[in-house]
Amino acid sequence: MTHIGTPTSRVDGRAKVTGAAKYAAEFNADMLVHGCAVTSTIAKGRITHIDVSEALRVAGVIDVLTHQNRPNMARTDRSYKEDVAPPGSPYRPLYDDRILHSGQPVALVLAEEWEIAKFAATLVKVEYNAEAHATDLALERGAAFEPSKPITRGDADKALAAAQVRHDAEYSLPIEHHNAMELHAATVIREEGGKLKVYDKTQGVMNSQKYLVSVFGLKKDELRVLSPYVGGAFGSGLRPAFQVVLAVMGAIALKRSVRVVLTRHQTFGLPYRPASIQRVALGATNGGTLDAVLHDALSITSQYEDFQRNTTSWAGALYKSPHAKYAHKLAKLDLATPGDMRAPGGACGMYALECAMDELAVKLKLDPVELRLRCYSDRDQNADIPYSSKKLRECYTQGAAAFGWDKRRAAPGSMREGHELIGFGMATGIWEAMQMKTSVRITLTANGHAEVACATSDIGTGTYTIMTQVAADMLGLPLANVTIQLGDSTLPYSPLEGGSWTAASVGNAIAVTAQAVTRELLRLAKKIPDSPLKGAKAEDVALQDGRIVSRSDPSRAVPVADAMRQGEVDRIEKTSAAASNDDGTRARYTHSAIFAEVRVDEELGVVRVTRVVNAVAAGRILNPKTARSQVMGGTVMGIGMALHEETLIDHNFGRYVNANLGEYHVPVNADIHDIEVIFVEEPDEIINPLGIKGVGEIGVVGTAAAVANAIHHATGKRIRDLPITLDKLLSSPSA
Ligand code: MOS
Repeated sequence: MTHIGTPTSRVDGRAKVTGAAKYAAEFNADMLVHGCAVTSTIAKGRITHIDVSEALRVAGVIDVLTHQNRPNMARTDRSYKEDVAPPGSPYRPLYDDRILHSGQPVALVLAEEWEIAKFAATLVKVEYNAEAHATDLALERGAAFEPSKPITRGDADKALAAAQVRHDAEYSLPIEHHNAMELHAATVIREEGGKLKVYDKTQGVMNSQKYLVSVFGLKKDELRVLSPYVGGAFGSGLRPAFQVVLAVMGAIALKRSVRVVLTRHQTFGLPYRPASIQRVALGATNGGTLDAVLHDALSITSQYEDFQRNTTSWAGALYKSPHAKYAHKLAKLDLATPGDMRAPGGACGMYALECAMDELAVKLKLDPVELRLRCYSDRDQNADIPYSSKKLRECYTQGAAAFGWDKRRAAPGSMREGHELIGFGMATGIWEAMQMKTSVRITLTANGHAEVACATSDIGTGTYTIMTQVAADMLGLPLANVTIQLGDSTLPYSPLEGGSWTAASVGNAIAVTAQAVTRELLRLAKKIPDSPLKGAKAEDVALQDGRIVSRSDPSRAVPVADAMRQGEVDRIEKTSAAASNDDGTRARYTHSAIFAEVRVDEELGVVRVTRVVNAVAAGRILNPKTARSQVMGGTVMGIGMALHEETLIDHNFGRYVNANLGEYHVPVNADIHDIEVIFVEEPDEIINPLGIKGVGEIGVVGTAAAVANAIHHATGKRIRDLPITLDKLLSSPSA
């Protein structure tokens, strides 16, 4: 294999930097109508009256849609349930007069120009009958419920009480919003005959297509969803978002093409990372092994759906402990349903667990890496099975060496340079390595070009590029001879791009389909009189440099073009699917060790994360260049989690107060210094034929804890409530 494993620039890089790559809001149509949403200013209640007369008087306004005059929509919850809908009753945009959260759409202004629509939207007058709302997680604690039973092993409470050393503390994380650079947008192009071609910012064209035809009662072939490029999503494009519903609604109502772009403020009405309050209690021996792990989480959900992700059971996959208890509660608030945001559950749960492990190491006077090595588990205790592969030990050692961890002085506050306190902190990361059934079509033509097609997405992660690399290797072609088609609901089946499963899913599907192409070519090649491949077995041949070649005897070969000529065809087209081989006997995870250096201004409390080393074990790395970008992006997001990101609510109004990039702080270039990514060798012949695990999410997991632990090491101050802003640091006493 020459392309797999080679650092390769994005095949779509040129299209992106020249603007040739088009995003959902950039597709055009004749007489395109522009839609602007009007959103609710109350958190709970009913709409009593909507006055659209003033908006309609604006020249260029075509119509204003509300729940009273919208086109027909399905009436059952089932019709709104898509692949990732949590239990409950999905939200229906502009369906009726009920207000479920502030920021929900209540009207859609349709106009000839975007500026006109946006202006007229300010003239729509909505009257409400407001009801008392609840948006404060801390206040609703008492009313929380358990959506699922706790996971237990042994008797954790008893073991904790009897433990030689105990650590027991509460950690909290605020709501975070994805804030991808690309705004949520949809352009619906109405074609002749009334068919709708929907360009949407989505992580799953097939899921959106199924949802939209179901919601609007259309025939399967009347609506197609495309998403060739996505400017970041991080989970915000998993469930069909309201902009696409509004745009399709507008196109149906006006029988014209319609574009709806959400404002940055409006994107805060989409799913978000739920706030959580977690308790981690660790019972340990003086020798630094664990007797008990208790991890509870309380997190937000909406009044209408129960959203929950695995936040609390990660210790079971990482650290040996005979006793454990993991529990999760949800509190219903008058907010939109939360959703997945990069490593959902893992990023939050591992923040709490890894800070708790650091606190335990301090109590035990043990180096934090040493504690983790003493607790290292060679089995996933949750499922009581071994791993397909786990090179986490190597992550610790290689990460520590690259970082210079041996220069760390154990005592907090003992390292400084001038007025800056220096801290070294570390943490472990873990994420699932999944594979989903995915189908790929390969069309190989006699001139040595292959088109690879799959309905999967490239949400900026580099899917186009890794698909090209895998196909080029499997078909024996240069990268330039492979073209990729993706992000189109009419292409072969793919689930959503999420869960870090796309590389493994689509990569192995390409391999399987390429084998089918190879078999067909061999069949044709054998028909050539005195074929050099006579008697060759399919397992023994490969495609190399435009030829079908025997692996055991490379002198036996037939050019692909000759085989096709023999078969009187000018192309071979095959569609095949690959699915996970997970039979439940091996635990499948990626792992990481993150080392962070912070410098804290002693008087001002300003924190800079000056160095991070993120050492990752994630099976075979298809493309070290794009994979590094993924881990680096995740690391940046983890720094944002630790220091900056927080969506604030004014509970009087049940409304977000910083729903803009001026006040919702994400790390900018000036916040990010040196980040080094290490990929630890991790051959894995069990997980899937190509040994791929996926890297989209692992980079964020553990990073916030490494930063928080470094801040404690620098200052002696333990801030357990993210983000660690300078006010919290300055007002906190030293431990
Ligand atoms: Mo990811 S949060 O599954 O897009």
